[in-house]
Parts: sequence; structure tokens; C-alpha cells
Amino acid sequence: MKILILGANGQIGSELCKVLNKNYKIEKITRNKLNYYNLNKVKKFLLNRQYNLLINAAAYTQVDQAEIEKNKATTLNAKFPKLLSEIVKIKNIPLIHYSTDYVFSGKSKFPYKEDSKPNPINYYGKTKLQGDLAIIKEKVKGYILRVSWVYGNKDHSFLNKIQNQINKKKQLHVVNDQFGTPTSSTFIAKITKKLIDRKKFNQIKIYNLSPKGKCSWFDFTNEYLSQKKITHPLVAISTDNIQQKAKRPQRVKLNSSKLEKYLKIKFLNWKGVLKKNLYER
Ligand SMILES: NC(=O)c1ccc[n+]([C@@H]2O[C@H](COP(=O)([O-])OP(=O)(O)OC[C@H]3O[C@@H](n4cnc5c(N)ncnc54)[C@H](OP(=O)(O)O)[C@@H]3O)[C@@H](O)[C@H]2O)c1
Repeated sequence: MKILILGANGQIGSELCKVLNKNYKIEKITRNKLNYYNLNKVKKFLLNRQYNLLINAAAYTQVDQAEIEKNKATTLNAKFPKLLSEIVKIKNIPLIHYSTDYVFSGKSKFPYKEDSKPNPINYYGKTKLQGDLAIIKEKVKGYILRVSWVYGNKDHSFLNKIQNQINKKKQLHVVNDQFGTPTSSTFIAKITKKLIDRKKFNQIKIYNLSPKGKCSWFDFTNEYLSQKKITHPLVAISTDNIQQKAKRPQRVKLNSSKLEKYLKIKFLNWKGVLKKNLYER
């Protein structure tokens, strides 16, 4: 089976390439090969290639900047996935696409299930939801995987930014009133591989893909310092203390039991996933 990976340089995309490369023939599509803003070019490019599965790990992921560059965010997060659905339908192949916990408002006290009502509170979340709905409407085969708080080994990844601050001996100021589930891109890539290995692609299904538990960004940073045995000044701050253009959902926990049941596995909690990512991978 040949798999085409869009966004192959991103946090999730680059891990997918590593994890899938062992068992599958993959083709990495990065920005220098194809700019996804040019939808006509994308269409021609993707229609003219041979592959059996399309994975979209690309998105406009700058949550604050999306409030300013609305057209770009809409093109990448809403129009592009719609086009991809049309392409996989023509080719009669499945699509795997990533969505976000930011399609939810974060106001519910309960974990969000796949069929919980989305209600995004920022532009990024709105465009991601539009993308999900466009894919569902096209009735393609495959999966939409909703993930949260992704970290990986890229310069823009949260823990790398934290580590940079540590290296520069700067005091860390991290918010302690936004709650979610930190999720390593390796974990996401490995679970995605399990879905691909099943070779069962039915009508598009949404699955939440998130480790157990939730925490604040402050708790996450604290756990990172503790697992790495780093002693460094860490100060808890509130969201009101920082300038963020986009509102963030205050508390989102994705309930992933549907996917656990489907794959017949139990997910680790976020601390276990962090440990694996730092020491075992
Ligand atoms: N990050 C999170 O916390 C988070 C949380 C929930 C859901 N998600 C979802 O998970 C998926 C992957 O996220 P991620 O964190 O891996 O994102 P990422 O690291 O920002 O990667 C996105 C990729 O898309 C590529 N891209 C963006 N615009 C492009 C364009 N115009 N042409 C070509 N390539 C373009 C980027 O290319 P360059 O490398 O060249 O910039 C990058 O490789 C997305 O669907 C995102 O919405 C992420």
C-alpha cells in the first residue's frame, strides 16, 4: 500500500513518516513540493499521482494568527480538506484527517464525545470544524481523528520552546487555568498506524484520540521538569496575564473510549505518554 502524507514536516506529519515508513511505502509532501494554498495546483498534483491512502496532517495551526489571516486559515482548514474529500472520492481511496479539541467551547464539565455538539470559540476552531463537516458531507471512506495539545520534536513544539527558555536560563511563566490533554505526536502516529494496519476503511468516522487525564499547561511543564529531573523556576500565571488574540477553550477533555474499544487497547494517561516520548519512544 502506498500512502501520501500531506504536511509531512509538521509535528504529526513527521512522526507519521517515521512510524509508517517501516511497513508502508510513503510519499512525503511538504510545502516546497506543493503549496496547499493553491487549490487548483493541489487538485492537479494529487489527481495525477498513484497512491492508496491519503493522510492530511497539514493545517493552519497558528491559533492567534488565524484571527488575522482569516482567508489563509479558511483555505487550509476548510477548503483544502473539502478538496481532498473530492479527490479521494474520485480515486476511490480512503482519507485520514486530523481535527482538534478546539471545535468545542470548553464550557462543559464532562468529557467531550465524538457526537458532542461542537461550538468553537475562535476562528481556528471554526475553520477546523468547517473542514470536518465538509469531509463528512462528501461521505468519503476513512477517519477524522480529533486530537488535543499536540507536542513533538519541532522548534515550534511546546516542550521545545520550554526547553529553549530553560537553556537561556529564563524564568518560566506558564498558564494554570487552561486545561486539556498533552498528546505526543509519536502517540498519535502510532495509533494512526494501528488504524491503517486494520485495512478496514468504511464510511468516514470521527474518533477522539487522546491519552487519559487532563492538566493545565503549568502542570504539564511541571511534570516535564520533574521527569527530566530539571530544577528551574516555574511561575503559574492566569490567561488574563497574557496577550492572546484568540480565546482558548478553558477546559476540554476528549473521551477516547470509542477508539480504545474499536482498537481493543487501553490508552496511557498523559504522564505515561510523556515518559514514553522522552525516554522510550
Ligand atoms: N498542535 C496542536 O496542539 C493541535 C491540537 C489539536 C489538533 N491539531 C491538528 O493536528 C494536525 C497536525 O497538527 P501539527 O501540530 O502537526 O501541525 P504543524 O506542526 O503546524 O504542521 C502543519 C504542517 O502543515 C504544513 N503547511 C501549512 N500551511 C501549508 C501550506 N500553505 N502549504 C504546504 N504546507 C503547509 C506546514 O508546513 P511547514 O512545515 O512548511 O510550515 C506543517 O508541516 C492539524 O490538523 C491540527 O489542526 C493540532
